[in-house]
Amino acid sequence: MADYEPLVIRHAQGCTLTTTDGRELIDGVASLWCNVHGHRHPKLDAAVREQLDRVAHITTLGMSCETTEQLAETLVSISPGDLKHVFFSSDGSCAVESALKMAFQYWQQRPNPKPQKTQFLALGQAYHGDTTGSVSLGGIKFFHDLFAPILFSPVRGPVPCSYRLPDGVGIEQAAETYAGQIEECLQQHHDQLAAVVMEPLVQGAAGMITHPAGLLAKIRTLCDQYDVLLIVDEVATGFGRTGKLFACEHEQVTPDILCLGKGLTGGYLPMAATLARTKIFEAFLANPADAKQFFHGHTFGGNPLAAAAAIASIELLQQPALLESVNAKAVQLRKRLNGLAEHPHVGDIRGRGLMVGIEMVADRQTRSSFPSTTQLGRRICERALEHGVWIRPLGDVIILMPPLAIREDELATLSDAVIQSIEQELASDGVNTARLLSSR
Ligand SMILES: Cc1ncc(COP(=O)(O)O)c(C=O)c1O
Repeated sequence: MADYEPLVIRHAQGCTLTTTDGRELIDGVASLWCNVHGHRHPKLDAAVREQLDRVAHITTLGMSCETTEQLAETLVSISPGDLKHVFFSSDGSCAVESALKMAFQYWQQRPNPKPQKTQFLALGQAYHGDTTGSVSLGGIKFFHDLFAPILFSPVRGPVPCSYRLPDGVGIEQAAETYAGQIEECLQQHHDQLAAVVMEPLVQGAAGMITHPAGLLAKIRTLCDQYDVLLIVDEVATGFGRTGKLFACEHEQVTPDILCLGKGLTGGYLPMAATLARTKIFEAFLANPADAKQFFHGHTFGGNPLAAAAAIASIELLQQPALLESVNAKAVQLRKRLNGLAEHPHVGDIRGRGLMVGIEMVADRQTRSSFPSTTQLGRRICERALEHGVWIRPLGDVIILMPPLAIREDELATLSDAVIQSIEQELASDGVNTARLLSSR
């Protein structure tokens, strides 16, 4: 916090944030990857106001609300396969935390129990939230290592990265290679494994690491083969981000448990959901005296105001033109960023849909990073403020994840601002950067 300069927002409209000192900034990261339709969308505003006239909050422990029930039905109808059961919580970390406990409890009490299945397999560089269970799955040194003494240890899979491939492996063999590595883990540990937990297609917080095509489907097959559940975390990728409603749809995969958050309410209110297939739900179905219920519950899970926003947001997402526009904007953004493709310090431009990362590297050949002391990513994002754009990096990966509703002219401003900021920062600090590199 020592050099924290607060940027205080007074109001927002569409994709523009207005600060208390009158600056207007494009919200280039959708207020932490969750705003879908822009700020103050009339339909979402009206839905929340209307719900406020009925009831703001009731508990879903022992009672229910018709708005929340309607949302549960909607989620079941739009999610893949037979994910027919919904458990609500308040943020993405809790959606994952719930999924872990649900998977554990499932193996303890299903008709043919396997109580030794108490562990989880997580991918390298995984990020699933900041609660203790979700941090235990985490594989990002900077975020997670400090907490090791208070965490459980997952079985750690590979980092299935398409940019930094294993030696001698081309992109065509990458999915097969990574799936092979995961299969080795499953062969060794399947008896103890309750579930594989993964983000589908793109590992957002790891720096938009993109998986080779086909990997998710291969992991689904392996999970079935080794009798291990598949938990897919779509907290970042869900609700249209990748150009489909859910990233799983790109590979026709139905997970056993699906975690949703962020864009669920269009980024209006905190709400998350953990969806489960019928076979999971049935393991919890018994008389009260058998005490098989899910031992987990959150005060604000299923909050009606959030549910009203979510229903309105999903209705907008269901208009066919919306997802088509995401794909068109993704192409437009890529085209505009093409100017950076040959830049000597841009290693990779990657992502899916409107979920993009630009990785800055010291050396394109070796793909080596700048020393962390250069703080290049942070400086580029600070520079972007001068060009009217608010973005937030992950190390030296510049993240672009605007509201899906961003207009073409705003997308142009966003990409131009990023290109200029990258060039200005590298040019203004060129000597310094060269010095730091030579001192490595
Ligand atoms: C894939 C993924 N899972 C879980 C989370 C945690 O969500 P929340 O910050 O709402 O707890 C995040 C947040 O960035 C995420 O990207």
